Amino acid sequence: MRSNVLRAVAAAASLMVFSAAQAQNQSVEVMHWWTSGGEGAAVGVLKQDLEKRGVKWVDMAVAGGGGEAASTALRARVVAGDPPTAAQQLGMNVRDWAVEGSLGNLDDVAVKGGWDKVVPPAVQAFGKYKGHWVAAPVNIHRPSWLWMNAKIFKDNGLTPPKTWDEFNATADKLKAKGITPLAFGGQAWQETTVWEDVVLGIGGPDFYKKAIIDADPAALKSPTMIKVFDQMRKLRSYVDRNFAGRDWNLATAMVLKGEAAMQLMGDWAKGEVIAAKQVPGKDILCSVAPGTQGSFLFNTDFFAMFNVSAAKRPAQLLMAQAIMDPSFQVTFNLAKGSIPARNDVSMDKFDDCGKQSMADLKAASAANHVYGSLAHGHAQPAGVQRAYFDVVTKHFNSDQSSQAAVDELVRSVAAAK
Ligand code: GAL
Repeated sequence: MRSNVLRAVAAAASLMVFSAAQAQNQSVEVMHWWTSGGEGAAVGVLKQDLEKRGVKWVDMAVAGGGGEAASTALRARVVAGDPPTAAQQLGMNVRDWAVEGSLGNLDDVAVKGGWDKVVPPAVQAFGKYKGHWVAAPVNIHRPSWLWMNAKIFKDNGLTPPKTWDEFNATADKLKAKGITPLAFGGQAWQETTVWEDVVLGIGGPDFYKKAIIDADPAALKSPTMIKVFDQMRKLRSYVDRNFAGRDWNLATAMVLKGEAAMQLMGDWAKGEVIAAKQVPGKDILCSVAPGTQGSFLFNTDFFAMFNVSAAKRPAQLLMAQAIMDPSFQVTFNLAKGSIPARNDVSMDKFDDCGKQSMADLKAASAANHVYGSLAHGHAQPAGVQRAYFDVVTKHFNSDQSSQAAVDELVRSVAAAK
């Protein structure tokens, strides 16, 4: 009943003519999980942009990488009938909220801004529901990067590893010299970020699609999947003793300070490099995770726009419009480490890692090898994603065999589907 009423209010609001003047002195309450140094800088860009347009920012930050805690807090607010104006959400969660009828319609703003023409189709698939825009995409992140301390690599005569065998050889050399090869945060979403790199790097794009996008039991129980868990066991031997529970940005800091040589992490880690006034591609090298060349895993941070009262609607629509502004997309993504969610902006101001990301996205799109990230909410709904998380984290944090992990993965994913 209540949601019908909300839907009716939202429908009426979407017919309302929206003008920037109406948004003046209104506020938007924005939920997000951007609390690290680089993330904070990026959220500051968004806040300032809105304040310049006369819209006040009410911050609802919920710390926790990957956004699990934030999503739980968001649900509590929506269930209580008091959603924030906008919430950072990953693709599958956007879809879930749209299915529940909790999101407002952004079509007017999207048509005026030509979103259909400039947002890559893989991103549109999550920002639209039943042909209507419900969320504004602020970036395209690539979760499968390898970050390397340039000085450690130079001092030890190393070059970026291109395959998992090369990675192991590099890590073995570093370990023999007493250097921690891999900075690592032991949290399920981080472990799965690394695991999906290994799935793609060892299995290739078709295997990634079968094992993760299709959750195909034959792929999940295949010999390739055994090799994936074997590689995870190897990685376990390259991390320091204190990895359990470590936040991702603290792992990035280890690479920045030279306390570890490498980190496998999304390009939000580049935001930390920039915030620390170091130069990506020079002080901290980037290359795609071993074996993943030619494919592009992605995740996009959307601002899902919730059904709010008609009075709050103009500021909400102004926020959606502001997010898609081409120059805002450049400034924001320069700080965030990601690339713009539109394909018509100049990449001139971006560093080499950013330029490579955009070029690789275009090439992988042409080859049909762009896939959503499992760890970052673009491959499976939350329940199935959790099944993968649980198996990956249990294996990494125990001495479970690869075969036992594979058996458990097949069982757990089937039960969650
Ligand atoms: C991702 C999100 C990024 C970044 C990262 C670490 O899921 O898309 O924007 O915040 O988590 O929290």
